[in-house]
Amino acid sequence: MPTKSLERWNNDGAHLEDLLKKAGYTTTLQYADNKVDQQITQLQNMINQNAQILVVASIDGTALGPVLDKAAQQKIKVIAYDRLINATPNVDYYATFDNYQVGKLQGEYIVKQLGLDAGKGPFNLEPFAGSSDDNNAKFFFAGAWDVLKPYLDSKKLVIPSGKKLASDADWKNVSIDGWSSQKSQAEMDNRLNSFYTGGKKVDAVLSPNDSLALGIEQSLESKGYRTGAGWPIITGQDADLANTKNILAGKQSMTVWKDTRALGDQVAKMIDQIVKDQPVETNDTKTYDNGVKVVPAYLLPPVVVTKDDVKSKLVDSGFYTASKLGL
Ligand code: BGC
Repeated sequence: MPTKSLERWNNDGAHLEDLLKKAGYTTTLQYADNKVDQQITQLQNMINQNAQILVVASIDGTALGPVLDKAAQQKIKVIAYDRLINATPNVDYYATFDNYQVGKLQGEYIVKQLGLDAGKGPFNLEPFAGSSDDNNAKFFFAGAWDVLKPYLDSKKLVIPSGKKLASDADWKNVSIDGWSSQKSQAEMDNRLNSFYTGGKKVDAVLSPNDSLALGIEQSLESKGYRTGAGWPIITGQDADLANTKNILAGKQSMTVWKDTRALGDQVAKMIDQIVKDQPVETNDTKTYDNGVKVVPAYLLPPVVVTKDDVKSKLVDSGFYTASKLGL
């Protein structure tokens, strides 16, 4: 797993390890502190210890080729977890949520809440994208951009900070490295200080995930925005605890929830199928070309959560207890 600093990866790791242990497998779970070299060393050690299957949520999706060559020499199977591993033939399967759909849901939410399809506008939008080394980030951005672009073209949406985004291919112009809350806060501070003078207000922020949304929310507060009528629409992803509480408090509009338990369940199933030499279940053999091959993938559906359905979706499913959310 890439890091302990983001809540979801702790949940991902703990759930998958628990499932595999219960199924009788021996596991080694490691977190790499978002450091690529550390992740490579961890993988190398696992290969040295004769692991039979590697499940990797990569930090930099292009940096694992050489170490996975060694895995292949030992006939170790490799499953890319949540994030695709690029530029190597040595990745056997990919399990993830539909990353394009995550962005699409964020874009659709903004369109609906602003009433853009009813002709309302113009509105001020500030777009953000995820870490430039994360293969998922471009899918999230493309999904959102395909929905938002027509309204940018018709000027019903404008970007006062003037970020250059001729198409979704320019997503790195608004990316936040390491998915860092501090960096997204600093970037939002800059945009607000420089481009929102004279009473100009942000109406919507496209944030690809919850860690960025946290920083953006803090920035808005520090610049005098208060929840209620003048607070912008802010999207997110992951249903992290702090963000779910912010949704309840009116500081975040939505999050795209990816039930990490379902992803773990699917990967545990893949592992079982590999070990038992059965066909491995996949449902997408077209989308995830890693530059060397199309990696057979299993895509799970992401789900929008707003204030109105925190209880029905996150509590009733057991993802959070009501008391944890202060409900
Ligand atoms: C994951 C997101 C997560 C982000 C930051 C992405 O690859 O798909 O769920 O918010 O990384 O860790």
